[in-house]
Amino acid sequence: MEKFRIFGGARLAGTVTISGAKNAALPCLAATLLTAEPVYLLGLPRVRDILTMEKVLAILGEHCEHQNGTTTVVMGRATETHAPYELVRTMRASVLVLGPLVAARQRARVALPGGCAIGARPIDFHLAALAQLGADIRLEHGDVVAEAPNGLRGAEITFPKVTVTGTENLLMAASLAVGRTVLRGCAREPEVCDLAAMLQAMGARISGAGTDTIEVEGVGELGGCTHRVIPDRIEAGTYLMAALLLGDGVRIEGCVPAHLAAVLELLAAAGATFTTEEHALVVPRQDRPLSGFSLTTREYPGFPTDLQAQAMALATQAQGRSEVVETIFENRFHHVLELKRLGAEITVEGHRAIVQGPRRLQGTTVMASDLRASAALVLAGLVAEGETIVDRIYHLDRGYEAMEAKLARLGARIARFNPGPFV
Ligand code: EPZ
Repeated sequence: MEKFRIFGGARLAGTVTISGAKNAALPCLAATLLTAEPVYLLGLPRVRDILTMEKVLAILGEHCEHQNGTTTVVMGRATETHAPYELVRTMRASVLVLGPLVAARQRARVALPGGCAIGARPIDFHLAALAQLGADIRLEHGDVVAEAPNGLRGAEITFPKVTVTGTENLLMAASLAVGRTVLRGCAREPEVCDLAAMLQAMGARISGAGTDTIEVEGVGELGGCTHRVIPDRIEAGTYLMAALLLGDGVRIEGCVPAHLAAVLELLAAAGATFTTEEHALVVPRQDRPLSGFSLTTREYPGFPTDLQAQAMALATQAQGRSEVVETIFENRFHHVLELKRLGAEITVEGHRAIVQGPRRLQGTTVMASDLRASAALVLAGLVAEGETIVDRIYHLDRGYEAMEAKLARLGARIARFNPGPFV
């Protein structure tokens, strides 16, 4: 099982280029099921979750080819409608094929995703909303079976709680439903807007993406398109925090600072200095440590839950008390115990973590538990004195493209290694 070896304290300088957003690429790949014409996707990140989604699409009869940064998705057998448990259990976002399959092929059979490290993560809102579009939904041997032999019909739907992939599933399904659909209580994430832009390029009639109310006029069919996915705001935020910890002048190229407004506002208030360009963040060497800060994760445009763990690593080096409140997932503090092994002072009271800083971190072996917790451990390892080994970095490979190469190019002393069998 591969690991990272990090020797802490190395300063970071230079330019890091941000990859395409995993959480935009996944729904955009699923949307290719809505058309029989070729779709050209640009800027997909080469990360494990994308490879998994491509395997799911291959089982569903789609063929993905990669050349010069372009992924061409061509429909093959449009009769397959079953996304098997073996793949879905490795990536819950496979549930994103549910909406397009039932809309385009009138039937879908998708393994019910189990929970994961950060929470139960049910999909009840997805299923209830698809039922309102006229799909017959049932559970069979651990699979969700959704059928609409006569097609889907538009409806007025209100999500009980904001759900990013739920909004995306329904956007895709409603695009081919007969009549008008109004979705209320929608997620407003940039990734939702990116999917809407791709669907519009395919001929979908969508208005209101990026607000909490989206209207869709169903059309009879959708065509192919060429679409470049947006940059990954969570990757950009992760490197921003690395630059604040150890930077001697870091340029974060190819990002959209506007997608990180809540993060930039909070860090600036804590004393961080940086400048923004349309597609870049420029972070000089910080002339003083951050002050302690309080953050509460919220749905977009609030502070993203996917940067909560990384911010907690940053807080271990801030002056004074920081408070981190997680409101989106019920169990997203796995990184706390590992950060404490490195010497952080953190106490947890329910969904609230109190961090006292600055604390000297000392390298040791830590274990990643989920994608974003892994990133937090890498950040802490970059700061910690001596050697830090981050185990189970397959979690990290799900959503960060070539992280060790990007950090090493900035001057970090980090390498991937495989200690061989039985370790
Ligand atoms: C998306 O997950 C992201 N994944 C997550 O990123 C991200 O953390 C999350 O949104 C929140 O921003 C992708 O986009 C592929 P939700 P999603 O549905 O859509 C509850 C990463 O690290 N809920 O918005 O699965 C749910 O349990 C990943 O890249 C229901 O109860 O999240 C959670 O508490 C991690 N029933 C809350 O809503 C439902 O039917 C928000 O979940 C759906 C959701």
